[in-house]
Amino acid sequence: MDTPMFSVAAASPFWVFASLLSLFLLLFTLARVLISGRRSLPLPPGTMGWPYIGETFQLYSQNPNVFFASKVKRYGKIFKTHVLGCPCVMISSPEAAKFILVTKSHLFKPTFPASKERMLGRQAIFFHQGPYHMKLRKIVMRAVMPEAIKNIVSDVETIAVSCLQSWDGQLINTFQEMKTYTYNVGLHSIFGKEGALYREELKRCYYILERGYNSMPINLPGTLFNKAMKARKELSQIVAKILHSRRQSKEERNDLLGSFMDEKEGLTDEQIADNVIGVIFAARDTTASVLTWIVKYLGENPSVLQTVTEEQESIMKSKENGGEDKSLTWADTRKMPISSRVIQETLRVASILSFTFREAVEDVEYGGYLIPKGWKVLPLFRNIHHSPDNFPDPEKFDPSRFEVAPKPNTFMPFGNGAHSCPGNELAKLEILVLLHHLTTKYRWSMVGPHNGIQYGPFALPQNGLPIRLFSKS
Ligand code: HEM
Repeated sequence: MDTPMFSVAAASPFWVFASLLSLFLLLFTLARVLISGRRSLPLPPGTMGWPYIGETFQLYSQNPNVFFASKVKRYGKIFKTHVLGCPCVMISSPEAAKFILVTKSHLFKPTFPASKERMLGRQAIFFHQGPYHMKLRKIVMRAVMPEAIKNIVSDVETIAVSCLQSWDGQLINTFQEMKTYTYNVGLHSIFGKEGALYREELKRCYYILERGYNSMPINLPGTLFNKAMKARKELSQIVAKILHSRRQSKEERNDLLGSFMDEKEGLTDEQIADNVIGVIFAARDTTASVLTWIVKYLGENPSVLQTVTEEQESIMKSKENGGEDKSLTWADTRKMPISSRVIQETLRVASILSFTFREAVEDVEYGGYLIPKGWKVLPLFRNIHHSPDNFPDPEKFDPSRFEVAPKPNTFMPFGNGAHSCPGNELAKLEILVLLHHLTTKYRWSMVGPHNGIQYGPFALPQNGLPIRLFSKS
């Protein structure tokens, strides 16, 4: 009896070890088969151009959309190329965009050149995945979701009215002036009424930062990049000063800075500063570009301008006939379906963010092709928005097409998934408020050629769309 007992006890650890070993070997072999299976998948069709330079020149020597369109025509909705020193896979089908940005977003991390990360601040929301990113998103959403921005409609209106009055009778560069508007609204949503106090100080630094942002990343005294890095430091110091004075006053605020400062969130001052600077960056030029395109499309489409004006005039009249307070309210902005469709159609046609970047964190199979680990992946929003499969007669500016909801994943002006734009409601609000006053009180004419597009980096009408603006009265 002893012997079997002894042998079972002695054999047990051996068998456990042996079983574990064989399980490990089996898994290892399976993984190898899987990996080699993936590795043996073909890369998407396409050409990689010259060593290192790749096809960068072909992309940037012309309107980038010509490059994308010719590739899609030749290779289909997924193709490979090599730009700015990186192998890339570009995709232009709604299903592939959903796969990368939503369903398999954990396999594709956001990616930016190191110089841009340094300039905006490494702790900014754009560069992160996982719990830290989710926390930042929650904080930003809390301050810019409809429930929160309902309370700032009349402040946004004051800013819009004051900007428009300052343009009256002037020849203006639409984009530059819209930037002033969106910057002032952005500061208000971040710092509340305090924003106006720091406007000029922050603006001076921000403009230097902006000039260096697209420059060569050479950090030597006198270069644009070097000046921008210094301005960046100054911006952090200004935010630190604001943080200090808020902590002294102990007053609780429900603006974005207040949300970042919530002690429960446990963010450091550096994390707060990087994200404040990041939000100004994300909010200003994007919204200003869209507003510039709206001014252009309305100017070119008198019948659309007429219907928008009528919609806005009826809101204005209903307020004149109403009680005391003539300021626009959140409820008024919900009664602007025609203007809202003009915004949607502008976002589609102009597609100011033609694409976004991700990087594959491991080998990924999509549609029978291999997307190798480390390759950049670019969902091409503009191609999706301009495909006749998704939008008939896609080059035509026709807001009425949005009377019917677009097919899923075909309309992504604010991105999609974990990194989609948290500020989209704020952007739409500020556009509607400006449109209300622009169409009811002013008329404008475009000056000089306005059919060209420039990219800097957002798509923009040529020369920022110079216009002459007059008060209707
Ligand atoms: C019409 C104007 C705007 C457009 C077209 C736009 C577009 C976008 C897009 C496409 C993305 C996603 C990029 C990606 O997936 O790689 C994004 C992200 C972002 N946007 Fe906007 N945006 C606009 C206005 C704003 C405003 C007003 C704010 C202010 C709160 C804002 C804050 C952000 C932030 C913080 C992110 C990063 C989100 C994250 O990484 O989780 N944007 N935006």
